[in-house]
Amino acid sequence: MRFKDHHIISMTSFSKDMIDHILETAEKMEPIARGKQKSDLLSGKVLAVLFFEPSTRTRMSFETAMYRLGGNVLNLGSIDASSIAKGETLADTIRVVDSYADAIVLRHPKEGAARLASEFSAIPILNAGDGAGHHPTQTLLDLYTIKRESQLEGLKIALVGDLKYGRTVHSLCYALSLYGAQITMISPRELRMPEEIINDLENRGAKVTELDSIEEAINDVDVLYMTRIQKERFPDPAEFQKVANRLKITPDLLKNVRPELRIMHPLPRVNEIHPEVDKTVHACYFKQAFYGVPVRMALVALVLGAMK
Ligand code: CP
Repeated sequence: MRFKDHHIISMTSFSKDMIDHILETAEKMEPIARGKQKSDLLSGKVLAVLFFEPSTRTRMSFETAMYRLGGNVLNLGSIDASSIAKGETLADTIRVVDSYADAIVLRHPKEGAARLASEFSAIPILNAGDGAGHHPTQTLLDLYTIKRESQLEGLKIALVGDLKYGRTVHSLCYALSLYGAQITMISPRELRMPEEIINDLENRGAKVTELDSIEEAINDVDVLYMTRIQKERFPDPAEFQKVANRLKITPDLLKNVRPELRIMHPLPRVNEIHPEVDKTVHACYFKQAFYGVPVRMALVALVLGAMK
């Protein structure tokens, strides 16, 4: 399977075979990600990291992935300290950075920014989140987590929270449709999954149900995938206040659930998962954050042609 020189922009262009290959490669990377084995697979390679929005996990797990494989990282750093603050366009920034590095990781507040960047880049662009658009590398680590902590085939999953602006859930549900998942969408009415995505999913053969509360679904699913209501995406702060604090997981809610239920969250969380839930067998969001390292190691190694 050829990934060399491919841009990673959206999950809509991935086949099940492509995803399975990345997940299998990530499994091979796990001992290196845990620091139990050494590797110089990406020695001499440079990954440029351009983040126009805040990040902890995506940025640092890409950087860790590169260091664990013996490669180097070139971080643009703060936007205010770069020439973007002088008005340089994204296109010009990409044209310049592609002559300094072997691949570019880009996070940007505008939907479509990664695709635009790919039109100006001779090296692979890895979309690390484009506004309310897509977050494909998060999806790959989510699938890896589900494979490790639950099961991918025949999965029943509830996506909870901000399904309108949530790029993680937009990307994830396209991938889940390839595995025949039964997808339940739970959100405030104002933050429903966009109709065009639901139509796409149904056209791809997915079974989609929409509900209003976690209680209605909690005993019927293998995975509850929580998301944050993203204050920063609301044009009007008053609209945010209307929907904040509606969907939460508390220890009480988990009293009678099956031990196999897994709770995931791309993080950061604000208050949608009570900290007491962290101690339960259901919580797997911190493991999920770790799995970003082997998955991103696999992706970078594949697009740079260091693995096939
Ligand atoms: N899940 C995720 O994208 O986290 P960060 O915003 O911290 O990168």
